[in-house]
Amino acid sequence: MMQIIHFNDWELLDAYAAQTIINKIQEKPNAVLGLATGSTPLGIYAKIIEAYRSKEVSFAQTTTVNLDEYVGLPAEHEQSYAYYMKQQLFSHIDIADDHYHLPNGLAENLKAECDRYDQLLEQNPIDIQLLGLGHNGHIGFNEPDALLSAGTHAVQLKAATLEANARFFSSAAEVPKMALTMGVGSILKAHTIILVVRGADKAEIVEQALTGPITTDVPASLLQTHPRVIVLLDREAGRKLK
Ligand code: F6R
Repeated sequence: MMQIIHFNDWELLDAYAAQTIINKIQEKPNAVLGLATGSTPLGIYAKIIEAYRSKEVSFAQTTTVNLDEYVGLPAEHEQSYAYYMKQQLFSHIDIADDHYHLPNGLAENLKAECDRYDQLLEQNPIDIQLLGLGHNGHIGFNEPDALLSAGTHAVQLKAATLEANARFFSSAAEVPKMALTMGVGSILKAHTIILVVRGADKAEIVEQALTGPITTDVPASLLQTHPRVIVLLDREAGRKLK
């Protein structure tokens, strides 16, 4: 079941998403949150930090698991997702150092690392999974393909993704060619999913993902099979929906 909520401005959307997460932590302090990086959740994390600072919520017992990470970037690299999460959220709240998790893109044995992450997900069932949406319909780094993986796996990044990411790096050679990502099976196991999409450039893929056929060509369309998805759209991203 998809509940779709349209917002006239980002501020309200961010507040709504943050409040949904805060409510969950207040009701279940040891909840497990599935988190995303990218530009979409930035305002949501800012609101969560505000709520923590005004003592509305504590993350002392909360566990988080992130969707994905580049292969080959150390956690101190400004473009690693570990770095992003520290900067944008973890260093500002009281989450314990051993309670937040990302796939380790520096692992010597990537297959073993994927297995470790799947075990971690098994032991920590996700209460709320926050998701952004790629222009091609990807969720996490699950790119459109004939076949999708259920569990955590290494992905070869597509040329378009490498190009899009190159602007964040000092040279094209520095852009990681691979990433580790949670699989669609793990994402769909989350109790509740919050899919957040902003911007006119995503209106088309929003329509396909939410109202089109369920297909691995649009990985986000699989969310139509999930019992509890809350979709938060700004006016531009939602303009093709009735
Ligand atoms: C991020 C992630 C990606 C992004 C998606 C949208 O951890 O897994 O799927 O959510 O690429 O990115 P933005 O928010 O930058 O438009």
